[in-house]
Formats: sequence, C-alpha cells, structure tokens
Amino acid sequence: MAFPITRLRRLRRTATLRRMVRETRLAPDDFIQPLFVCPGRDVRKPIESMPGVAQLSVDLAVREARATFDAGVPAVILFGIPAHKDSTGSEAWSDSGVVQTAIREIKAHVPDLTVITDVCLCEYTDHGHCGVIKDGDVDNDATLELLAREALSHARAGVDIVAPSDMMDGRVGAIRKALDQNNLVHVPIMAYSAKFASAFYGPFREAAESTPKFGDRRSYQMDPPNGDEALREVALDLEEGADIVMVKPALAYLDLIYRVKSEFGCPVAAYNVSGEYAMIRAAGLNGWLDEERATIEVLTAIKRAGADLILTYFAKDVARKLK
Ligand code: PBG
Repeated sequence: MAFPITRLRRLRRTATLRRMVRETRLAPDDFIQPLFVCPGRDVRKPIESMPGVAQLSVDLAVREARATFDAGVPAVILFGIPAHKDSTGSEAWSDSGVVQTAIREIKAHVPDLTVITDVCLCEYTDHGHCGVIKDGDVDNDATLELLAREALSHARAGVDIVAPSDMMDGRVGAIRKALDQNNLVHVPIMAYSAKFASAFYGPFREAAESTPKFGDRRSYQMDPPNGDEALREVALDLEEGADIVMVKPALAYLDLIYRVKSEFGCPVAAYNVSGEYAMIRAAGLNGWLDEERATIEVLTAIKRAGADLILTYFAKDVARKLK
C-alpha cells in the first residue's frame, strides 16, 4: 500500500509515538567501560587526547568501578600500565602486576561487577608490539605461550572474562587450553576477532603508553578493506572456543558487525574505540556538534547493526543519562 494511504510520518508526530515504535533501545546493560590502571596510590593521570579519561591507580580504579556499576553498567575492561617494561612483557603475567592487583581489589569491593581483562603484550613490552620479536617481526607461536600465561594469571586473580586483543593466529585455542588444564573451564573468552590495523587507536596508545617503537601492527592486525576475511577470523575464534566475538573499531566497520551477527548469531561485541571517542569529544568541546546527541546516535547505530555489547569510553556517562 503506497502514498497517500501509507504515510510513515503519522508515527513520528509526537515524542510518545516515536517512543512506542522505536526499534532499538540503548540500555546501560549494553555497555562495557574501559579503565586504564597504573601503579601508585591516589594517581589520576589525564589522557590529553581523550578528555575525561585518565590512567588511575588501583585505589581510584576501584572507586571508578563502583561508580560505573552504580550507573548501571555491568562490566569494565581493564588495561594495565606496568611499572617496568621489557622485551617479552613479563609483567603481563606477574601475579602481583597492576592488572592482577586491580582484579582482586575490584572483585573484593564490587563483587557483582563483571571484570574483563585485555590480554595483550603491547602495554608491557619495551618495543610496544603485541608479542615477542624475532627477525624484526612478531613471532606468532612464541607469543601464544606468553598470552596463555597472562590469561591464566588474570584468571587466577579472579577475572570474570579474558579478552585477547593481540591478533596472533591460534591464541584463543592456546588460552582455552591453558584455562581448561588449570580448572578454569568456567572463564569465558571474549575474542577481539575482527580487529583491524586502524588509525582510530591513536589516542589509546597515548593512554596505554603502547605505541610501537618501530614499524606498525599491519603484520598481525587486519587490513581494513577486508570483510570476508573478518568472517573467517570470527569462524576460527569460535572453533577455538571463543564465547563472545568482537569487531573493532565499530563505526567504520558497522557492515561487519551486521555480517558477523547474521552469519553466526553468537554474542557480538563492538569496540567504539579511542579515536571514535576523541572525535566526538573534540567536536563537542569546540561547539561544533551536540555531543550528547551525537554520542547516543553513534551508540544506537552500533547496537542497530547487531552488537550485543559495546565497549565505550562513554559507558558510565551515557548510562547515567539513560537511567
Ligand atoms: C591492545 C589494544 C589496543 C586497543 C585495545 N587493545 C591498541 C592496539 O591494538 O594498538 C585499542 C582500543 C582503543 O583504541 O580504544 N592491543
């Protein structure tokens, strides 16, 4: 039935009508809040390129975790900035490392908050790459063992979900095996499955102090033009035991969020990354766009595309507004 009988504007006339036929609703439950944890006490080190985001020492991270949970957000994902870096990133699997300490403290003080950890070596290596270097490139198979050790150490500290973000081949299987052999069969893996070598990670690397000292991440992270390959990455991660798969970044890859959700029907996370946050904040602070509306619009689009979970630096603030 077409015009003039069908008039789609009829259901747009009032705010209440629009509410009634709204197809996608954002809720605090959709979000995961990233936190950057650094050594020390009472340390709050703002990230210049991410206004409103700071590295926090464990004591302040616990407070922030509490405030995030109170805003209705069910989960945080932790990134560690270690006191010392070395060529293998050995602080990544230190049981007294900054992330391991943060896991224990947050679980002790906010037990119902789901604590996720990013499992990667780039924050811990002195060269800033996501694995060990051999002949000028990251050595895949030697890195797997270290990632498994790191994930095991997080799980022993009490983490609820581990999230490998390194993009080595076979790392989900290696981590699953290590967890299962150590009576940690119940710990889920959220795999950064379709993770692209993106310009939008720039501000994060300031936040996590993880900029590569040479080269870039293109020999392990995906090439942005490739969509079919993203589906292959997801399929492999699911075969290896991933419980949740992720597409990252979100905004330039909405097609892949949609394809992954349609093809696999599994829980899909999308990472609204640092550069996506920085763009909106910068334009907002300049008065160039309505920051709150732009944020809600973007997060709604990510959910509409098919994401069940959205990792976003806006999580706590948006959750408060939605409440
Ligand atoms: C670690 C990691 C990165 C991000 C999440 N985990 C950086 C990178 O791969 O360079 C990016 C998150 C963001 O930009 O918000 N490998």
